[in-house]
Amino acid sequence: MAARKKTFYITSPLYYVNDLPHIGSAYTTIACDCIARYKRLQGYDVCFLTGTDEHGQKIFKSAKEKNLPPKDHCDYIAGKFQELWRLLNIKYDKFSRTTSANHGKIVQEFFKLVHSNGDIYEADYEGLYCEACEDFKSEKDLLEGNICPIHKTKAQEYKEKNYFFPLSKFEERLLKHLDQNPGFIQPSYRRNEVLGWIKEGLKDFPVSRRSVPWGISLPIDSTQTIYVWFDALLGYVSGLLGDSDIPSIENALKNYWPCSVHIIGKDILRFHAVYWPCMLMSAGLPLPEKVFGHGFLTKDGEKMGKTTGNIVDPYELINEFGTDAVRFYFLKEIAFGKDGDYSRQSFINRINSDLANNLGNLLNRTLNLVNKNFNGEIKYESSAGETLNLAEKTNLTIKNYEKAMDNLELKDALDIVWELVDSTNRVFNNLEPWKLIKNNEISKARSCLYETLEILRNICLTICPFIPETANKIMLQLGYDRLDEELSWEKAGWTKTKATYKVKEGKPVFPRLEQI
Ligand code: MSP
Repeated sequence: MAARKKTFYITSPLYYVNDLPHIGSAYTTIACDCIARYKRLQGYDVCFLTGTDEHGQKIFKSAKEKNLPPKDHCDYIAGKFQELWRLLNIKYDKFSRTTSANHGKIVQEFFKLVHSNGDIYEADYEGLYCEACEDFKSEKDLLEGNICPIHKTKAQEYKEKNYFFPLSKFEERLLKHLDQNPGFIQPSYRRNEVLGWIKEGLKDFPVSRRSVPWGISLPIDSTQTIYVWFDALLGYVSGLLGDSDIPSIENALKNYWPCSVHIIGKDILRFHAVYWPCMLMSAGLPLPEKVFGHGFLTKDGEKMGKTTGNIVDPYELINEFGTDAVRFYFLKEIAFGKDGDYSRQSFINRINSDLANNLGNLLNRTLNLVNKNFNGEIKYESSAGETLNLAEKTNLTIKNYEKAMDNLELKDALDIVWELVDSTNRVFNNLEPWKLIKNNEISKARSCLYETLEILRNICLTICPFIPETANKIMLQLGYDRLDEELSWEKAGWTKTKATYKVKEGKPVFPRLEQI
């Protein structure tokens, strides 16, 4: 029997369906898709799960405002997310919806498990609640007037009898886990944040709500629904169920659990890095291997968000600039983990300088020379020796790129590749292959062009997780048609492929954007 491929399970957050998707939610999903594609390229059996978080006060209210039954509202917005992921070329394997029947069963099974392990108790909650965060707050978390610093909305006071989860009981165990698994929370500055919270002391939190009707019914008290975060996190489990699986936690976890990495924004770090592991500990289930918290996209320095209303419309960006430009801009412009500001000017500059000029021109000039002077065919020429002297650098680029990608340093990985693009352009310009041809130094010219094609092929491998359509187009121009075979990490590195390039006509893959 063939050995089973190594699995890789990656999740995006499950997005709230209170409103249409915006570029902030797209950012997380593009990053996940890039990582998932990279792992597939390397031969992993990848499961990439995304989805929607559809219960709770906030969504109930937005359905009401639109005069729609909550489920109809959720169906509509969930469809909009799926549509946007299609437009952004997001290749997910599972779409988890928290209003699905299977999800409800998994959440109830999980709750019963935690309850039977003695980790649920009844008590009065009296305090503040931020509906935009769907989170219990204390005054020190809020600005003056109980304003949420993230959403700039006012937290409401409420008082209810609820069922609680004893988070404080797990403090020691969580600390020990973090200590024994230094890579559990990344980047390291997020880990420090979590350590700070644990040191301050963890507070038990309600896992049910009496006054929120739009939620999963609490198995032990039908007058309450399950708190939306206790419900939503389990979407990472329920969404793994196959169509023919009997909905049980055991069945859901059989193939891909533990999760390799949860990719999330920094605003939901506490739920993923504190609540979630403690919930799993209570249920006796394995913890995810990694939680990675990225930064915020800002516009004019403010977090972009549905609640703040300063959003950049992803549909408009895609319409105007195309899918790959959008994917590329956000991943190359912003260090993954840190905050980053969007501006139209930096978008245009980035695409023009990196894609249209540096990479696009190199490709175009090479293909034109090969087509015009060599009838589109370049054989490997050993007699001229290396002309560009970039074989070693190409191999090193592949190695360093791999290291960066494995650390989820997506921008660094692209920077490493563009260093090779720049070096190639520089050496190519110095060698002036068009002059070599004119001076009848054919052997040397042929070597130079062959080596450039070989570099371009390697560049395609590294960029295809980021801008898959563009990478495919370039590969076709380089003369490859079996892209599924050729775009495999085994083919990365110098001359591990055919010794002849039979290229196609060079058409600009990235036209320059006009400054408007
Ligand atoms: N429903 C929860 C997640 C539950 S996961 C079990 C939620 N949803 S959300 O729609 O509000 O946000 C989803 C993700 O989008 C979060 O990771 C959040 O950080 C990210 N972003 C929302 N606005 C963003 C920016 N302006 N910039 C970057 N990411 C942003 O939270």
